[in-house]
Amino acid sequence: MLINDYFPKNLMQGKVVFVTGGGSGINLGIARNFAALGARIGMCGRSAERLEQAARELQSAGAAVFTRTADVRDAVALQGALDTCRDELGPIDVLVCGAAGNFLVPAEQLSPNGFRTVVDIDLMGSFNAVHAGFEQLRSTRGSIIFISAAMAHVPHAYQLHVGAAKAGIDNMMKNLALEWGRYGIRCNSIMPGPVRDTEGMRRLSTPELEAELIKTIPMGRMGLVDDIGQAAVFLASPLASHITGTLLAVDGGQHLAGSAGFNKGAELILAGKHE
Ligand code: COA
Ligand code: NAP
Repeated sequence: MLINDYFPKNLMQGKVVFVTGGGSGINLGIARNFAALGARIGMCGRSAERLEQAARELQSAGAAVFTRTADVRDAVALQGALDTCRDELGPIDVLVCGAAGNFLVPAEQLSPNGFRTVVDIDLMGSFNAVHAGFEQLRSTRGSIIFISAAMAHVPHAYQLHVGAAKAGIDNMMKNLALEWGRYGIRCNSIMPGPVRDTEGMRRLSTPELEAELIKTIPMGRMGLVDDIGQAAVFLASPLASHITGTLLAVDGGQHLAGSAGFNKGAELILAGKHE
């Protein structure tokens, strides 16, 4: 049963939620959960086609939607997207920093540009988003949700770049929670575990390996995009009005098992034994 079956259907009525990288996967799932509770949705990403398809889906469910193609690495473009979103939908109440890039690569084969690219998208992109959204969030006493990952806190093989970027995000989240509490702005991170049917899993695993991965998840199943969407709604809702500076693992307990299962699978993928 989805959160919108438990919460009042108008919980997010009148609220504006902006999701970077909102056109697909987990981020679209987050947008979908907010939209189901009455929120207006702003989204950016690089692919106009992907954004248009996501917008059509949310609009057909009754949501007002704003989309703008913007690369989160481009601070000016992102500022433009957030400003235009404010003009069309009103100031944002919730900012979800979800845009990210990932690939498996042994550390010694990672080029400086490969490292920089992921740090630029994940970490700089999240900073660019909060920088561009700050005035709006201050005016609404809003909330920021960063999307982290397990490699921020436990090393995962072939994920040096992602671990560094996501660890930076979680530290930034805490710093902002400390500094922006005075403006009524709450800042939290969600750390998804492996989520079924996502681009992230397609890049880091295979259907066969997923069966092995599930054995490392105490709750015995992969995450669903709605698991993450529901947690995001909770963190942005009045139920969480005194919660800031936290990292919320939504992973069925997977982080408790460490990264050995992941590392073994990644080794097989890079060796070409699991295409
Ligand atoms: N292994 C090693 N290096 C890689 C790589 C891989 N699989 N994929 C990209 N790189 C390196 C490139 O070689 C390049 O470095 P170089 O100039 O030294 O050769 C650098 O990363 C940038 O690659 P480029 O393709 O130009 O970057 P981009 O900005 O077009 O795309 C990515 C960014 C690489 C992260 C791309 O995979 C992407 O767009 N991802 C978004 C979707 C995603 O990852 N979803 C999952 C989220 S968990
Ligand atoms: P996804 O569908 O590829 O989502 C990433 C989104 O970000 C895409 O819509 C992509 O759209 C956008 N994006 C990428 N680079 C961008 C850029 N430079 N500027 C603007 N937008 C950009 O992958 P996902 O698996 O759902 O991952 C979503 C989030 O969850 C990520 O933060 C990821 O790290 C995190 N996460 C995922 C998992 C998992 O199991 N999948 C686990 C832990 C954490 P465009 O390509 O059109 O730009």
